[in-house]
Amino acid sequence: MTNTYIISLGGSLIATQQGIEVNFLKEFREVIINQVSKGDRFFIITGGGQIARTSIESANEIVALNNEQKDWIGIAATRLNASIVRNIFSEYGYEKVVHNPSEEIKTDKPIIVSGGWKPGHSTDFVAAFLAEKHNIKTIINLSNIDYVYTTDPRENPEATLIKQTSWSEFQKIVGTQWEPGLNAPFDPIASLRCAESTTRVIICHGKKMTNWVKIFNDEEFEGTVIQ
Ligand code: UTP
Repeated sequence: MTNTYIISLGGSLIATQQGIEVNFLKEFREVIINQVSKGDRFFIITGGGQIARTSIESANEIVALNNEQKDWIGIAATRLNASIVRNIFSEYGYEKVVHNPSEEIKTDKPIIVSGGWKPGHSTDFVAAFLAEKHNIKTIINLSNIDYVYTTDPRENPEATLIKQTSWSEFQKIVGTQWEPGLNAPFDPIASLRCAESTTRVIICHGKKMTNWVKIFNDEEFEGTVIQ
């Protein structure tokens, strides 16, 4: 059976302050093209990562910015990352980086890449919106954590990892408020949207590819499932 998947690709996997994550992107490209050769299709939504956050902070040191200004800086970072990811998929990718996921996309290309859309949320919301629009039941959220924890494990040794949870429980962890540059396992505004549309989100460590490719084969994997 062939499927359409939505991947929310954390910006920290694409680029860090040290530069573009070339080795990760090479491997990611191979994995996705391998799935495409089996007939699968993908929406890939790219985050802005550390570059979005430091760009927002630096501009804000020069002059105090409002939240909307901060978000537009973040969106620019997500779109740069989207352009990198779209172009490495060459002939497999829809020609344009999607800026507005509510617009109709006419293409038979198997990979569509989007960055951020508009202020008020992160790219996780773009993934949630596309999932609802295209009736796709699962979002694969790849970032730099293996699991969601009850609290931040770097600050609290009592934090326990969560394998499976509900949207209402998850909202107790991330809250319901948006803040530009927020670093949450899945954005609270996107979480509200997923809860309404009963979309399932799987959170996995993006660099552990032999783990998350198991999702495509319906095998057991390590990660947190929110539904
Ligand atoms: P993301 O938060 O999506 O990048 O966008 P990230 O932090 O790399 O994603 P995760 O956490 O790994 O999933 C970076 C910033 O861009 C702005 C926000 O300020 C966000 O914090 N943004 C992004 C928007 O305002 N709207 C969007 O649709 C997307």
